[in-house]
This record gives sequence, C-alpha cells and structure tokens, in this order.
Amino acid sequence: MANRVEIFDTTLRDGEQSPGASMNVSEKIQMALQLERLGVDIIEAGFPIASAQEFEGVQKVAAAVKRPRVAALARANKLDIERAAQAIEKAQHPVLHTFIATSDIHLEYKLKMTREQVVERAGESVRLAKSLIGRVEFSAEDSTRSDSNYLVEVVKAAIEAGADVINLPDTVGYTTPAEIEEMFRFVIANVPGSDKAVFSCHNHNDLGLAVANALAALRGGARQIECCVNGIGERAGNTAIEEVVMVMKTRHNVYPYETGIVTEEITNTSRLLGNLTGLTVSYNKPIVGRNAFAHEAGIHQHGVIASRITYEIMTPESVGRSSNELVLGKHSGKHGLTRRCKDLGLELSDAEIALLYEKFIALADKKKEVFEDDLRVLVASMRNESFETYSLEQVRTSGSDPAMALVKLKRGKEEFLDTAIGDGPVDAACQAIERVVGVSGRLQEFNIRAASPGKDALGEAHVTVLLDGKSYYGTGASTDIIEAAVKAYLSAVNKYLALREQ
Ligand code: KIV
Ligand code: ZN
Repeated sequence: MANRVEIFDTTLRDGEQSPGASMNVSEKIQMALQLERLGVDIIEAGFPIASAQEFEGVQKVAAAVKRPRVAALARANKLDIERAAQAIEKAQHPVLHTFIATSDIHLEYKLKMTREQVVERAGESVRLAKSLIGRVEFSAEDSTRSDSNYLVEVVKAAIEAGADVINLPDTVGYTTPAEIEEMFRFVIANVPGSDKAVFSCHNHNDLGLAVANALAALRGGARQIECCVNGIGERAGNTAIEEVVMVMKTRHNVYPYETGIVTEEITNTSRLLGNLTGLTVSYNKPIVGRNAFAHEAGIHQHGVIASRITYEIMTPESVGRSSNELVLGKHSGKHGLTRRCKDLGLELSDAEIALLYEKFIALADKKKEVFEDDLRVLVASMRNESFETYSLEQVRTSGSDPAMALVKLKRGKEEFLDTAIGDGPVDAACQAIERVVGVSGRLQEFNIRAASPGKDALGEAHVTVLLDGKSYYGTGASTDIIEAAVKAYLSAVNKYLALREQ
C-alpha cells in the first residue's frame, strides 16, 4: 500500500462550526489561500445548504484556489447534494462529500430510518452525487459506534455506487487507537472492491485522542486524514493538522508516511486563523503554542546552548517559527514591507500595501519597534475595516464610574456623532455606537492582549457580541486599548449588519 497520505483540511467547514470560529466570505478566502500555500490536498470549504452566505463562501473559495481539491458537504438527500454541486461547479478539482449516520443510536433517535433504508439512501446519494461531480466522498457518520458488519454493508453500497473516498468518522470522539485501527482493517478487508476507494479518518477530540487515533487509522489502512488548523472543530475539536503532520515528520521511523505539507507554513497558517477568528491557541499547545519551543529551566537552556538536540526534537524553523523578529524601521520603505508580508504568508494587493504602509508608519511613529506579530494584527484589522458598514472616525472617553463617551462614526459619506454614559469607558463607547446604529447587543466575551512585547505594544481586542440571538466575533487593534476594544465591538456589529442586509 502506498505511503502517501492525503491531508483533507476541514477548518472552513467542521472547524468553522466551532463556537466563535465563524468567518465571513473574505476571511474564508484568505484562509483558503493560506491552506493552499500550506500544501493541503483538499480544502473542505463549507456546507452550502446551510445558508446563502455559506453557499457564497464555498463558491468563492472554489474559484480562488487552483491546486487543491475543493470539497462541499451535503447530507444524503437530493436538495443538499444539488446545492453542494452547484457551489463547487467552478472548482478546478471539485469533490462532493455526502454523509449519513450508520450507528443504531443515530438511526433510531435522529434519522428514524431502518438499517435497510440507510443502505439504500447511501447508494442513491452517492449515485446522484457522482452524476453531478467527478469525485465523491462518502462518510458513514458515527462509524466508530456503528456495528462493524453493518458498516461493511453501507460502505459496500457506497463503493458500488461509485464513491472514490470512504470516510469513517469518530464523530463523538469516543474511540481509542487500538479500536480504530481494527475498524479500518476490518472494513477494508471485508468490503469487496475496497481497493477502489481511498479510506479516510475524521476524528473528534473529546477524549484528547484525535491525533493518536488518526495515526492508528493509518496503520489500519486509511490514507486520508481529515483535520483542522489548531485542532478547532465541533466541541473539543478535530485532529490538529500541525500535530499529526509533525508526528509523521519527526517520527518518520515509526510512521513512515509522506504528506504534501510545507511544514514551514504551519506557523503562518496557525497565526492567520487566530487573527481571523480570535481563537488563539494556549501557550503550551504543541507545535504552535507560544511556549512550544521555549526553554525556561536553566538546565534545559544550558543543554540547548551546548547542542540543540539535547532538548529539541524538531527545530522551530521547520514549522516556520522565527523569534517574532523586528519587522523594519519606519524608514524601511514599501518594498521591504511587501517582502516581509510575503514571508509571513500575507499576500496583499497594491492598494492594500499602500494602506498598510500608512498604518505601519503611523504605528512605527508611536512605538519604537514593530514586530512580525504587530504586522499580522495590522493586516487582519485593516482587512476587517475594508468591508465595514460603519467605520470609527473618533472615540473620546472621560471618567470611569460613570464614564462618558463620544463616538464619531462614518457610513459612506455620512457622519454620525453620539454620546453615552456607561459603567466604564468601553461600555459607554459601545452604548454610543448602539445609539448610532440602532442595535442592542450583549458582550459575551472580551479579551485584550498585547500583540508583541513592550509597554507601548499594539493592543489586540477580541470580542463576541450577541445580537438578535446569534454571536458575532469582532476584532480591533490600536496602541490605545480603549480604541482597540471599541473597534472590535464595532467590527462585530458590522458583521451583524452585513448579514442582516444580505
Ligand atoms: O464528525 C463527523 O462525523 C462529520 C461528518 C459530517 C464527516 O463531521
Ligand atoms: Zn466532524
């Protein structure tokens, strides 16, 4: 059996389903282009039947990327499948991914279908998908809690109907490495024609076993791993792409598999997702956490200085980590800025570079040193501002209990000014924004942190705001933390308005 393992990234679909990770169309495109640079084989762009915005996101990602295949998800029914096929029709290499559950628990309580009906539906759905799109993946949802003999029957029907990829998900993160290896072995050995399909795993991380289970699935015969950047995804998330790939690279003697991943792009990809969604990783997260390569104990530092291999099993450079270097001085020029952005995986149009340069100079004027992470945050907030309905022209606050705020917003050419009183300056400014816009939101989460070291650091604010029963994420950056927080609030409100107007 060949040792090439395909990496199927589902950050934009399963990952995007995790609370707080939703992305708008432009953010999805940025992420998809970075995934292309990372070298993933397949990008699952979304679930087109879910909403008009989701459909548009899939369609735009399909048009934007060139090399990777682009997958769209559909339940096993006509409407879903036709909608998914429509969304990816312009992709260079489309994949239609259809699924139905196969465990008795799901059949009885969710689908209310018999085993025979599910076998029939699986076959029909794959046949329909195959008539519309050349490559079809079939997933047997909740495979790891399904009866193995029955799973064989369903997979057999899907392969007979033309499925090219068979995915056996651990939907609830329940299985163990030994069990999943055995499940793949059993199904592959017992389904006639199993050699015609690529077998795939998709593991949730409820018990913290997703990566271990993915590696065990490979031993059982799987040759595709479904995973997400930073391990995001439903509930506790999915297999983390950076972890599973670096295990195969670092322990190649144990897991002798090849992938097409450009590991030096891992850090850029992880940071971009954090900047776009505010879901940043914990300091001790393997591979991409801030401390993943930091040696604190004196004895470790001493060892690493003597020879890196004493305490380092992989180099920071191999995952694209630099030491958050100084970017450039304020006399550096546009050319240098463009090159540094490219190194960070930030592809910018000429217009964006011109605007970024202005912001960079303004920042360099305020703080002496501008770091790579400052640049990442600056680009993320600039892109956020580029599709806002209202922009923040000015915010002034005074006092603290109560505080008073004055905000000036702009919509097109129109300017709006209002004031409000609140518990603190941020509360007052957010209330003033709400008075202008005519909405009322509830702040659910509010985080502020420094993008880089130093007392004069760029503050990065992340908020989640509940508006009309739905949560919207917003981000904002400024050397003034009140302004950063207010920008973040306004960006969440703008996302809500964009969706409402759509
Ligand atoms: O977890 C799961 O079972 C899924 C399928 C739709 C592949 O996400
Ligand atoms: Zn899933």
